[in-house]
Amino acid sequence: MALDRNTAPNDLAAFWMPFTSNRQFKKNPRMFVGARDMHYTTADGRQVLDGTAGLWCCNAGHCRPLITEAISRQAAEMDYAPAFQMGHPSAFELANRLVDIAPAGMEHVFYCNSGSEAVDTALKIAIAYHRVRGEGTRTRLIGRERGYHGVGFGGISVGGIVNNRKYFGALLNGVDHLPHTHLPAQNSFVKGQPEHGAHLAEELERIVALHGPETIAAVIVEPMAGSTGVLMPPKGYLEKLREISSKHGILLIFDEVITGFGRLGAPFASQFFGVTPDMITCAKGLTNGVIPMGAVLTTAGVHDAFMQGPEQAIELFHGYTYSGNPIASAAGIATLETYKQERLFERAAELAPYWEEAIHSLAGKPHVIDIRNLGLIGAVELQPIPGEPTKRAFNAFLKAYEKGILIRTTGDIIAMSPPLIISKPEIDTLIGTLGEVLDSLD
Ligand SMILES: Cc1ncc(COP(=O)(O)O)c(C=O)c1O
Repeated sequence: MALDRNTAPNDLAAFWMPFTSNRQFKKNPRMFVGARDMHYTTADGRQVLDGTAGLWCCNAGHCRPLITEAISRQAAEMDYAPAFQMGHPSAFELANRLVDIAPAGMEHVFYCNSGSEAVDTALKIAIAYHRVRGEGTRTRLIGRERGYHGVGFGGISVGGIVNNRKYFGALLNGVDHLPHTHLPAQNSFVKGQPEHGAHLAEELERIVALHGPETIAAVIVEPMAGSTGVLMPPKGYLEKLREISSKHGILLIFDEVITGFGRLGAPFASQFFGVTPDMITCAKGLTNGVIPMGAVLTTAGVHDAFMQGPEQAIELFHGYTYSGNPIASAAGIATLETYKQERLFERAAELAPYWEEAIHSLAGKPHVIDIRNLGLIGAVELQPIPGEPTKRAFNAFLKAYEKGILIRTTGDIIAMSPPLIISKPEIDTLIGTLGEVLDSLD
């Protein structure tokens, strides 16, 4: 029986929605039933301009032909192949293409199915890496306050968003956190990377001195922190983290689940900032958000440390049923091809100055206490309503949706990260409509 996709479901109770105010949503549901290029179509037939690339993932826009064709072709040709002790060509082809666009030195790819799994995979590889090299005391992991590394136990342990941690028990032990880099008194309304805050990377020296370098496996940070509300790294900060971690034999992991695939105008943020970590986690834009897939990119040094012992021995006791799934791999190849054919990373870089001017034109709007931007990402921070944190921004989100733009909010911060195919007139519409929304807020 054909499903009528435009018929609203008559019972919303069964689906327990993720990171959603379920009761509020189900009283007044917001349903998307179609998508193409820069727009979603709602169940009541309205067009909504996508200001967030879905959830920071549809970097090439929606329902792009190369990707949809590749998925249906692969599904018809070979739906699934076992991921352990068997292979299929697409997974290898995608790995090679990823290495081609990755920062020099990143030579291997380990697949998983999401950003959360990529993070847990990278943390496990880091601890195991030291162990296979005879440094089994290096088990500690260092994250950062306000960091978001997904929702696995590893990710929430190194993450620093309080609500994502406090309900879930003791988490991993042996974890410490760097301070976050948000310094509103010095850096508000700065365009691009802030001047102040590089010294906060020196906190890593303090943590190393406290625990001893021989106990620390890895440091993980988002090169640009997205989910906490878009915090740019202060100038010199990432360079200093790299220097200190190298000095102490600690692996540096960049979580590029948001910044990967052109968001800042280079394939990865590490190229944009000119700082190369030992591992990169990615997901989201890897398949344009179309099919779940994540990956960890590693240097030869990390990978080769495992390639020892008898040849028939499994080198890393880790992996997923869907690691390198054929349909996800086909989607990944077609996504990278779309980025390349349409020069979308270059396009993001070219549009960035226009985006910067547009978003900063909102300074002076009611309740706006900060605006931040880099590449094709931006945030507008609002003064919270006294005693009702998050409400003002959430009201902005609801009004924006009614007016035909999709934005995202965390706390009282509005975040935007449009598909890289956005045009200048569409930037004007997005920012102009957001301006009207801000004008109308209590
Ligand atoms: C930096 C970062 N890491 C990890 C994740 C988790 O990804 P997923 O939701 O695919 O598990 C996200 C998701 O937003 C992210 O922004």
